[in-house]
Amino acid sequence: MIDDALGDRSLVVVSNREPYVHEYVEGEPTAERPAGGLVTALDGVVAKTGGTWVAWGSGDADFDPAVAPDGEVAVPPGDSGGDPADDDRPGYTLSRLDLPRRLVENYYYGYSNQVLWPICHLEADPVTVDPAFAPAYREANRRFAERAVAADPDVVWFQDYHLALAPQYVREQRPDARLVQFWHVPWPTPEFFEICPQGTELLRGLLGNDAIGFHLERYAANFRDCVARFVPDAAVTESGTIRYDGRTVETYASPIGVDTERVAANARSDGATHYWDRVTDRYDLDPERSIVLGVDRLDYTKGVIERLDALAHLLETNPGLAGEFTYVQKGTRTREGIPAYRRYYDEVRDRIADLNGAYGTPDWTPVVYIEDDVDDRELAGLYRYADAAVVSSRRDGMNLVAKEFVAAQGQPAPNAGLAQADGLDRSTRNRTPGALVLSRFVGAAESLCPAALSVNPYDVAGFAETIRTALTMDETERRERAASMRASVREDDIDAWLATQTDVLTGESRIAADDD
Ligand code: ADP
Ligand code: F6P
Repeated sequence: MIDDALGDRSLVVVSNREPYVHEYVEGEPTAERPAGGLVTALDGVVAKTGGTWVAWGSGDADFDPAVAPDGEVAVPPGDSGGDPADDDRPGYTLSRLDLPRRLVENYYYGYSNQVLWPICHLEADPVTVDPAFAPAYREANRRFAERAVAADPDVVWFQDYHLALAPQYVREQRPDARLVQFWHVPWPTPEFFEICPQGTELLRGLLGNDAIGFHLERYAANFRDCVARFVPDAAVTESGTIRYDGRTVETYASPIGVDTERVAANARSDGATHYWDRVTDRYDLDPERSIVLGVDRLDYTKGVIERLDALAHLLETNPGLAGEFTYVQKGTRTREGIPAYRRYYDEVRDRIADLNGAYGTPDWTPVVYIEDDVDDRELAGLYRYADAAVVSSRRDGMNLVAKEFVAAQGQPAPNAGLAQADGLDRSTRNRTPGALVLSRFVGAAESLCPAALSVNPYDVAGFAETIRTALTMDETERRERAASMRASVREDDIDAWLATQTDVLTGESRIAADDD
């Protein structure tokens, strides 16, 4: 356990995104868990550390002062998505940082998501360099660093690309603390990173850490190549460490995973089945038709438009497939302060309408779009009852949706009472695990392919053909592929990731680094 390994040392986790957003929705108080891989992965993990989690308080400022932004909230284990009765985790303190709106606009919607996000995902077009962005990024990083230092930490664990400068700021004030960062998105090649006007400054900021982790060795190697090229006074050693400012900085790869037991339990839950029943009723889904599923934050990197184009091509070139399946798209709006994201949302909706207009019939709607806020169990219901899932990111650090789908599949048939209640024959449906169509440009492809069907989302004809393969795959092959994917998702699960992070956070991994 990480809290045992840390002993008396106090841990502060710092991320931009908070695990729960408290706000009023139509006058009613709500606590929503934002969609995103970082929160999904970290919430359970930080509950095991019992430490402090510093994050931007993004909810309503006039909310109950006990939970408003800029304050501390005790998050008991039960709030972490589990059953409090079964949970012996200590919970954690959520320390919310209230950032002024203008700062959020330039630091979060600006520098983080219009400069760094596209650069890390190798997307040049959306990069927008407004002169107000970089100063705001520095200012926000200073505020996060100050809040972390105020908690008097022995160990600080920074998360992701919003906080590239904070480690250096903390290092200046706490040279003795152990600082570690996990970068949840890809790291680009030097040729691409060079687009960033503040590239060297960011690298120096990150080198304030003792260790920097990435999902894949490929990303870590790109990071070291950038350091070698853009930080003249740093030296990259053959063993992958970096000598900088009289210190050794370690780089490491550690693929993030999911809590497979929890996802499977959610998929078996009544909540999952009831939600699926509601979806089938609401959209009049025919149990004879296969369900193909997509679950995404509506971000251009997720390749939702490419997926819809491939589906249109599939129907154009395979008229016999009309009426044979329904594609269910679960979407969530994201980063709506950025025009490109608002446009993307509209484009997805328009493309779905066009596709349904072109190929739909009076008794068949090819694409169903769901925008409900769903909890973990409801989402697991979608995963569980789908016959295939499609993840088609143009680029993605890891992609947890792919792993959650695998972990939720192949559950025993739900009880007969429910199956009979609405006439659906679930005794025979969905006991065979579903196929996964997976972009070759996501981190998860490294471990899930070739058991997952690999696609290049830019290749519309090849993509369409692969969806057809998924829809027509025989049961034996589906089972074999699913068993292989399940073994890999279990091996690289969230506990395996946490075990590596624990070694790095406690300095165990330094032994290797100090040897060279
Ligand atoms: P990212 O971190 O870029 O959003 P990931 O696939 O790694 O991508 O993680 C997304 C996480 O957010 C998953 O845990 C998934 O369950 C959740 N999620 C993504 N999209 C949705 C959605 N439309 N509705 C609900 N949850 C979502
Ligand atoms: O997993 C990558 C990531 O950028 C996280 O850092 C982030 O929390 C998540 O995607 C969702 O994005 P946002 O926090 O901007 O809603």
